[in-house]
Amino acid sequence: MRATAKVPVVTIDGPSGSGKGAVAAILAKQLGFSLLDSGALYRVLGIATLKANLELENHEAIRDLAHNMQVEFGRFGADSVELNGEDISLEIRTDIGSDQASKIGAIPAAREALFQRQLDFRQAPGLVADGRDMGTVVFPDAQLKIYLTASPEERAQRRYKQLIGKGIGAILVDLLRELKARDQRDSEREISPLKPAADALVIDTTSLSLEQVVEKVVRLAAQALA
Ligand code: C5P
Repeated sequence: MRATAKVPVVTIDGPSGSGKGAVAAILAKQLGFSLLDSGALYRVLGIATLKANLELENHEAIRDLAHNMQVEFGRFGADSVELNGEDISLEIRTDIGSDQASKIGAIPAAREALFQRQLDFRQAPGLVADGRDMGTVVFPDAQLKIYLTASPEERAQRRYKQLIGKGIGAILVDLLRELKARDQRDSEREISPLKPAADALVIDTTSLSLEQVVEKVVRLAAQALA
């Protein structure tokens, strides 16, 4: 067994807008663990393919790009992401970034290429990993697997508030339509589809505040890691 396999991992999977990113970041901080935002890796690869003008059909070139791109997290603050030295923190969060990431996520060669990068985040004293397949594929031996979900309407509403709060114009019905399209693509793809691991604890956050979800997850982590 690889030595890092003994390092504890908490996985937090779920669809977009389920709150997994925010919960994972708070939990990682509280535990003093590293954080893997795996969606950011798919987003970075998506932006990298756009910058390189690669067709999505060109799986071999996408795989090479995924192996060779230099990605750095957190040099300019918690959410900062660099691709080959260029700050693309905002670019990866745009609608184009989301859409391209979801298309990249359906390409097996891209998933394979990003697999080892994700494993490398498993460093002592521990890791909190959020995404779609953290508990099912990347860290199947995680000490605790959480799957957060919420109704599509509630998730679109959260995204709407987030964008408006940042001064970015948004139309709720459009957000809902895009979110459902992304859900469908993520759940129906053949490789690593979005679904809870058999041993995941599913929490429906539709009527819960972020604080309530964090409280639950922190309690579950304390029990699982004891
Ligand atoms: O989590 P986030 O919304 O940033 O993820 C962006 C996209 O990346 C998702 O819609 C999904 O298609 C893809 N993704 C994935 N597997 C992961 C994380 C993200 O396929 N573990």
